[in-house]
Amino acid sequence: MQPDRLLITGGAGFIGSNFVNYWIARHPGHRVVVLDALPYAGNPANLHAVRDLPQFRFVHGEIQNEALVEKLLREESINCIVHFAAESHVDRSILAPDLFLATNVMGTHSLLKVARKVWLDSGSGTPHRFHHVSTDEVYGSLDLTAPAFIESSPYQPSSPYAASKAASDHLVRAYGHTYGLDVTISNCSNNYGPFHYPEKLIPLMIVNILQGLPLPVYGAGGNVRDWLYVEDHCRGIELALQRGRSGETYNLGGNSERANLDLVRTLCREVDALLDADAGLGSRFPDAPVHHDGSAESLIQFVADRPGHDLRYAIDASKAAAELGFVPRHNLESGLRNTVAWYLENESWWRDLMGRNYQDWMHAQYAGRSPARNGG
Ligand code: NAD
Ligand code: DAU
Repeated sequence: MQPDRLLITGGAGFIGSNFVNYWIARHPGHRVVVLDALPYAGNPANLHAVRDLPQFRFVHGEIQNEALVEKLLREESINCIVHFAAESHVDRSILAPDLFLATNVMGTHSLLKVARKVWLDSGSGTPHRFHHVSTDEVYGSLDLTAPAFIESSPYQPSSPYAASKAASDHLVRAYGHTYGLDVTISNCSNNYGPFHYPEKLIPLMIVNILQGLPLPVYGAGGNVRDWLYVEDHCRGIELALQRGRSGETYNLGGNSERANLDLVRTLCREVDALLDADAGLGSRFPDAPVHHDGSAESLIQFVADRPGHDLRYAIDASKAAAELGFVPRHNLESGLRNTVAWYLENESWWRDLMGRNYQDWMHAQYAGRSPARNGG
């Protein structure tokens, strides 16, 4: 079954909107319907390039609204759900876990129930695919020298966010196994790129450098993440839809592990160099340290660690490479360069967000954390 009428949940968020833009550019004849509740991270501005196209429709609503989801599946003859919608920030899940269970667990179950009703309970069944976008965090934390996660690694989620994603993965598999729903799951490593809400590490560091604000590094900055440029994640999901076998799980990763402090220092050097090379940028970002004979690294502050902070994630994507032909096209250097350039070119995008959500955003960043010590 090749999907051509897609419902994208969470399509106004970071990865979802990148996926919508990617899919419409590559499949202009397909119908794309976005369902997004826009609680805070979703932003209709992320979809400005596609919003007036006839094949695109945006629906403001919750995945838990089963009547709405059923109506959309029927009236749009949807044959594929790509499920991104979630509460996605680990720090927020530590402060207030309930919403993560409501959205990530119960919301996913609502979608599965409706998909089963519309696609399987009506006569002979309709060709379909339910693709669930999940995370490497379900596998827990690795030692620095342990082999990377494979699809059969045990589930050992650490945070309420990771536990809620793990539960949703199990439900998706259960609906495939028990009811015959055509499901696939991708478990991906840390993404970065355009439209990334600036509460997550990379965009937070970029916008803080530009404003001369502190760069909060949790603990000693030795935690390791495996970074994948978001466009490569979109390609991985496309391949899973086109070539993935029903019931299978595919790990997607960038083969680009970095300790947080190294990554933050790289971003500091990248932004300093760009601002230094272009006098025009100085007037736009007068508070950046490079304009005061300093370097962005002077903004680094070591702050109290995230409770239960996973030490390391790393993905072994060899199954996706062998079965789907998945190979990331961006390395971390080119991806970070594109990302920094995007935040420089799209200043109004992040300033608008901060204007709307600034208090909320700062609260999520700093709640319970006081600077521990300065310097590197
Ligand atoms: P995001 O927070 O930017 O986007 C989530 C989207 O879901 C937002 O647009 C939000 O408005 C929407 N949403 C939230 N609750 C909803 C509800 N009840 N009904 C409808 N829409 C709702 O997150 P993201 O980083 O784009 O992540 C997307 C998906 O990818 C998530 O499922 C996440 O677990 C997964 N994932 C993310 C990463 C990463 O590095 N960001 C890596 C692997 C997997
Ligand atoms: O691994 C995939 C996951 O990656 C996704 O499932 C999540 O949705 C996504 O948010 C991301 O989770 P992380 O917790 O790894 O991402 P975050 O950007 O919040 O943090 C990355 C690392 O940087 C982590 O070790 C914590 C650290 N950090 C984060 C922030 C926001 C800091 O040191 N300082 C910060 O201010």
